[in-house]
Amino acid sequence: MKLKWLGHSAFELVSDNGLDIIVDPFIQANPACPLNVNDIHPDVICITHGHSDHFGDVVEIARNNPNLVVVTNYEISIHLQREGVNSVGINCGAEITINDVKIRMLDAKHSSSLDFDINIPYAGNPGSFLFTFENDLKVFHAGDTGLFSDMKFVIGEVYKPDIAILPIGNIFTMNPTEASIATSWISPKVVIPMHYNSFPSIRQDPDEFKREVESRAPDCETLIAEVLRTYEF
Ligand code: NI
Ligand code: MN
Repeated sequence: MKLKWLGHSAFELVSDNGLDIIVDPFIQANPACPLNVNDIHPDVICITHGHSDHFGDVVEIARNNPNLVVVTNYEISIHLQREGVNSVGINCGAEITINDVKIRMLDAKHSSSLDFDINIPYAGNPGSFLFTFENDLKVFHAGDTGLFSDMKFVIGEVYKPDIAILPIGNIFTMNPTEASIATSWISPKVVIPMHYNSFPSIRQDPDEFKREVESRAPDCETLIAEVLRTYEF
């Protein structure tokens, strides 16, 4: 599996058989993403919740890529279907399989609305995603979330991800200390911080997160990803 950070919470995960998945495709207005929406051609987009820094450019990307499938919560999928986007709505705990990759929606403690619409419509519950690749490699993308105990009892003990991608920005999500506690509960082999430094309000030092992970979860490696660099697992 190849992993690439596109800045903020946007990640590209490509399976060994070439299934190209983008999580939270915030591209055009993402200050941390140097790409243009026309540069990306995923097979699957997964959206954790309705906020504009996660929903991003999904509609435009879907128009450019007619075979694209969007996996998101039920309410956002209804909205996307009305926009003519091919979308599958699932809910917390559900798993679907696309080609060789299993995609499961799990919990997040946050909110979800279409904040770019003047009426701020309800957009279902916020979620996270667990991806299981063909060689049983499991990647957890937490979306936006605060710390919650099911990170230990459900995500850590039941699903056991190998790689966890966690927000550290504070203000809207966990801060580095809380994310290091989440790391010790989830107990992955590798943790990757996200949702920091893309905006002034979420300025954080990822090295501080790395130090806190070293003290609370010494067996876990912290990967401070560089935007657009490809990491192979
Ligand atoms: Ni959010
Ligand atoms: Mn966010």
